[in-house]
This record gives sequence, structure tokens and C-alpha cells, in this order.
Amino acid sequence: MADTDADKLKEYAKRLFGALGGAMTSAMVYLGDRLGLYRALALLGSATSEELARHTGLHERWLREWLHQQGAAGLLEHRGEGRFALTPEGATVLADETHPAFGAGFFAQLPALVGVAERIGESFRTGLGHPYDALGAEGAAGVERGLAPWFRAMLVPCVLPRVPGVVDALRGGAQVADVGCGAGVALLEMAKAFPRSRFHGYDISEHALARAERNREAAGVANASFHHARRDPVPADGRFAFVTSFDCLHDMAHPAAVMRAVRAAIDPDGTWLIADIKAHPSYEENAQRNPMAAMMYGTSILACMSSALSEPDGLGLGTLGFSEPLARRMTGEAGFSRFEPLDLGHPVNAFYVVRP
Ligand SMILES: C[S@@+](CC[C@H](N)C(=O)[O-])C[C@H]1O[C@@H](n2cnc3c(N)ncnc32)[C@H](O)[C@@H]1O
Repeated sequence: MADTDADKLKEYAKRLFGALGGAMTSAMVYLGDRLGLYRALALLGSATSEELARHTGLHERWLREWLHQQGAAGLLEHRGEGRFALTPEGATVLADETHPAFGAGFFAQLPALVGVAERIGESFRTGLGHPYDALGAEGAAGVERGLAPWFRAMLVPCVLPRVPGVVDALRGGAQVADVGCGAGVALLEMAKAFPRSRFHGYDISEHALARAERNREAAGVANASFHHARRDPVPADGRFAFVTSFDCLHDMAHPAAVMRAVRAAIDPDGTWLIADIKAHPSYEENAQRNPMAAMMYGTSILACMSSALSEPDGLGLGTLGFSEPLARRMTGEAGFSRFEPLDLGHPVNAFYVVRP
């Protein structure tokens, strides 16, 4: 048996079980979101388990245990005598899906992600990961609900006006592509705002593309269409005045090829707006400067790096693998000559304006 210091052993065990506590709390956040408990609490202001049961039609005893868990985790405030409440900040992050800081949507893909843990061991042996579609329809829904609130609230009113020339071009009528469009939320927001322009989303996930088409129909948007990037690739004829790629280059097995395809598809005076995780070039910087590094490296193994290694010779960048210096170098190698970071104060993403 190894020689151990009793206090250090206790500290270490505390850290380990803190992580297990985080996993349990995450599962309870998933349930709170799915069962509408945060929205109910936000509406009621505060509630006992009996009041929450009356409001939701769910069983009081189960709700009491959930409230106790959420209070113990510090996500709900205990107001005494079995009464719990969301703070205004809690209500924003957990109950208001229209707010850019809404975070509960990320938990929607939790069962799909954790389910991957059961079969991903094989990837450690073979080296080959799984594409996004391996996360199933629930995975695509979770990615959409996680990423959509910020883009829905911020892209058209706050981001596009910061990209020189783009709003004028879109008002006048331009061809636009979103490469790695997922469920199409960002593309549809732009399509609604700029009816004279024509919008094309490209992805390789059948689940995401099916959601994108449903979202398009539900929004009644006629100037947008979605394409499977393998069967109907981005045309290499310089037609697009504006191209976007949000949170997807680090997931791609062959991002250099995709960058070359974007270079061939973009107008010589066009603009490519890239958003990707604010990653540092070294592990040391990521571990020291990013408080979410452990969560992100885990997500990488279960989703992002797995997707980026899902094809033979995949580059395997992963969640924290696409740093600014690498983005600058790779876009330069793909034939782009201008690269400007754009500080938009996003908590997780860096933005780059890239031009031919
Ligand atoms: C994290 S999701 C982001 C999706 C979307 N941009 C959003 O904001 O919701 C990454 C997406 O990249 C897509 N992807 C991976 N490789 C791709 C490729 N070669 N071409 C197009 N899309 C790709 C995945 O299918 C997935 O939908």
C-alpha cells in the first residue's frame, strides 16, 4: 500500500466525491429542466414541495427529494420551512430560454453523452471515434438547446453589426452559407432578419439536419435551405458573400479540407465569421486559465474529439484543440490572407473574421 498523508488523502477523496456530486447534480438539473421544475419555480417565486406538486401535477415526495438535492447543491435557496426559490440569476440561467445566459439546455444531452462512456472504451483501442449522429436525436437536440440561446439573442442584433460590411451586404441581398450549421438556429435567425438574402446550411448530421428542416418549417422561413455536406457539398464557385461556422471546426475530422472548400466557395471580397472555443495553445494554459477545462476535456472525449476522430486520419482537434494561433495558421494555409479576432465578450467562444 502506498504511503499516504491522512489529511491529503481526505482532501483528495473530497475532490473525487465532489466530482461524483457534480455528476448527480447534473442529472438533477437535467430532470429539473425536462420536468419544467425550474420554470415552475420561476413562475411561483418560491415553493414548498406541496405547492410545486399542486402546480406541476407531480408527486410531492419525489419533488421534496429533488428540492433538497438542489438546495444542498446551492442551485436553489432554502427559505426555511421546506420553502425553496430560484435567485434571479438562477431563474435566468435555468428557466429563461430567451436569455443569452440560459444554460440548462446544455444538460439536455447529458444522458446521450454519458451513454457514450459505455462504448467509447473501444475507441481508446481502435483510435476511431464516433460522429455526432452517434449521440442520437437527443444529442442533436441537446447541442441545439445548449448553443441556441446565445446565438438567438446576440447574432443579429450584436454580432453582425461588428463585422464590417456584412449587414449592408445582407440587406442588399447576398448568398450566405453556414458550414457546420447543426439544427440551423443561427442560419434561420439571419434568414428572418434579411429576407433579400439567400441562406444555405451545411452539415453531416442527419439528426441535426432533420431538426434544422423542422425549425425552418416552424419559423415559416422561405429563404433558407439545408444540405448534407457529403451529398450536396458547398459549391466551389465563389458565390458566397458571407460564410459562418459556429462551434464546429474543432469537431471536424478534416477541418483543413473544409477550410479549403470554404475558400473556394467564398467571394473574393467575402467574409468568413468563425466562432470556436477560446482555447489556449498548451495544456498548461488551458488547465490553469480555464476553470471549465476538466468539463471540456471530458466533453471532448465523449463528443468533440470523438467526432474529429470519427474518420480515418481525422485531425482530432477536440474541444480545446483549436486555439487562435492554430486558427490563424490553418486559415492562412487554406488560402485566406486576413484574420482578425473579434472580442464579443462571449464567456466561452472566440470569434475570428477571416477574409480571402
Ligand atoms: C457542436 S455542433 C455545432 C452546430 C451548430 N453550429 C450550432 O451552433 O448549433 C458541431 C457540428 O459540426 C458538424 N460537423 C462535423 N463535421 C462536419 C463536416 N465535415 N461538415 C459539416 N459539418 C460538420 C456536426 O455534425 C455538428 O452538427
